[in-house]
Amino acid sequence: MAKMPRCLELLILLSCFCIQSFLNSHAETILLKQGQQLLERYSDHLVSENGIFKLGFVSPGTASVSGGTGNRYVGIYYRKLPSHPDAVWVANPETPTKDSSGVFTLDGDGKLKLIHSGRQLTVSDYNQTVSGNVTASILGTGNLVVREVASNGTFGNVLWESFNHPTNTLLPGMKLGMNHKRGQNLTLSSWLSDQVPAPGAFRLGVDPGDTNQLVIWRREDVYWTSGVWENGSFQAAPELTRRVDLFDFTFVSNKEEKYFSYSVKNSSTLSRWEPNSWGQIMQSILTPNGTAWESTGTSPCKFNQYYPDAMCIEEKLSECRNGTELFVPSRGYFNGTEFLYYDNDTNLALSDCHTTCWSDCSCIGYESYYSNNGTGCVFMREGTKFEKNDYFGVTYVLTIGNNSKGMSDHIT
Ligand SMILES: *[C@@H]1O[C@H](CO)[C@@H](O)[C@H](O)[C@H]1NC(C)=O
Ligand SMILES: *[C@@H]1O[C@H](CO)[C@@H](O)[C@H](O)[C@H]1NC(C)=O
Ligand SMILES: *[C@@H]1O[C@H](CO)[C@@H](O)[C@H](O)[C@H]1NC(C)=O
Ligand SMILES: *[C@@H]1O[C@H](CO)[C@@H](O)[C@H](O)[C@H]1NC(C)=O
Ligand SMILES: *[C@@H]1O[C@H](CO)[C@@H](O)[C@H](O)[C@H]1NC(C)=O
Ligand SMILES: *[C@@H]1O[C@H](CO)[C@@H](O)[C@H](O)[C@H]1NC(C)=O
Ligand SMILES: *[C@@H]1O[C@H](CO)[C@@H](O)[C@H](O)[C@H]1NC(C)=O
Ligand SMILES: *[C@@H]1O[C@H](CO)[C@@H](O)[C@H](O)[C@H]1NC(C)=O
Repeated sequence: MAKMPRCLELLILLSCFCIQSFLNSHAETILLKQGQQLLERYSDHLVSENGIFKLGFVSPGTASVSGGTGNRYVGIYYRKLPSHPDAVWVANPETPTKDSSGVFTLDGDGKLKLIHSGRQLTVSDYNQTVSGNVTASILGTGNLVVREVASNGTFGNVLWESFNHPTNTLLPGMKLGMNHKRGQNLTLSSWLSDQVPAPGAFRLGVDPGDTNQLVIWRREDVYWTSGVWENGSFQAAPELTRRVDLFDFTFVSNKEEKYFSYSVKNSSTLSRWEPNSWGQIMQSILTPNGTAWESTGTSPCKFNQYYPDAMCIEEKLSECRNGTELFVPSRGYFNGTEFLYYDNDTNLALSDCHTTCWSDCSCIGYESYYSNNGTGCVFMREGTKFEKNDYFGVTYVLTIGNNSKGMSDHIT
């Protein structure tokens, strides 16, 4: 066989490459320059310098039975994890795109913008005036930064960074707390539901008062505190700083700022903290084989060995609730619509439904009103029976000891 000329070989290789990238037009970029766009319809991505993180359009929770919301969000997530992305940062938690027309771009004015359905959201707002060119990239830590860049390509000032605008996740190197000088509060909010990254019922931060401790607020009330920081751990939550083999933990409090932070001893350890929808701090570490997260949660309520998946939220005791009540997730339905009542407010998380049901002595169960996105509430009154059935969605059914109040008798 005749030897193919080298340039022909190269040409074939090149055209293969072009056809390949045309067919599968999704592009991965490491540096976003002014005017450059990431298009939702081509699944374009911005990838971190070390290849660990990527930013793109995602639909959280689409694995749910009802198929999700059709909402899309610009999020940063782990590039290599096989399962559906859990975003560690979301650019537009309250303004999803809906029609795959989204464009994420670094504009001529040096700011990151999300343009969709004729609307424009400025993602990276800052006041500094910029002299030269600006670029956006994701550092190896997962921090999305907008930086000045000199004509010789060296980076200058950081103009904006996502680590100063946290959403639901604390990554190693991020600060949780406040910067008094800049008037910044660095807090994390739980998602409204698995499908909706808008702020939900719980917020995690540090005590704005005198003590050095972590605080979880539920709506506006203090729900949980970690106990004060002393000798490298929190007095009432020592489990948070248990893995000294993998991490360094710090709490800093001075005139300028007050924050908690942690860092990894070995940069190949992937880890994150987040307040979940039940008000627990979930600490996750990627298993060494890189396929699954190992998670542990701080918990303000007692773990029940018979119902480990019962809703775990602390409520105030009352005449009809003595604290032994559990709301246990079960598939099925309550027989009889006359026993149902509703709150269709789309800002209500499932934990809010729990509170309302808890404070109503006649309430024996609840579930989400909007099953597609997990918001709003449906409640069930005493008088009806719950029929288990795997073809139905999940309802939280009042259970005391081993008795499911309202659970149909012929089912165990
Ligand atoms: C930060 O939080 C503190 C305490 O909750 C509050 O007084 C302050 O106004 C907040 N600052 C900003 C900029 O949100
Ligand atoms: C912290 O360390 C100091 C000095 O080692 C010790 O005196 C103190 O009892 C420790 N505090 C706690 C709460 O362990
Ligand atoms: C960091 O972890 C990786 C993977 O577990 C290991 O191969 C490497 O030797 C570690 N590096 C250090 C400095 O311990
Ligand atoms: C990865 O490791 C975890 C625990 O270390 C294990 O549960 C899982 O089955 C492993 N997955 C694979 C594909 O080996
Ligand atoms: C709590 O109330 C239930 C009935 O609602 C009762 O069976 C149980 O004994 C009570 N438990 C305590 C500790 O008072
Ligand atoms: C609902 O309850 C009624 C009366 O107890 C019973 O006859 C009926 O079969 C139930 N319906 C369903 C769908 O379970
Ligand atoms: C929500 O409830 C109100 C009053 O109960 C009703 O007027 C409205 O149509 C409901 N909205 C939806 C989307 O179901
Ligand atoms: C959840 O679903 C309801 C009903 O379809 C809708 O009105 C609401 O906007 C949805 N919420 C989000 C965040 O998509």
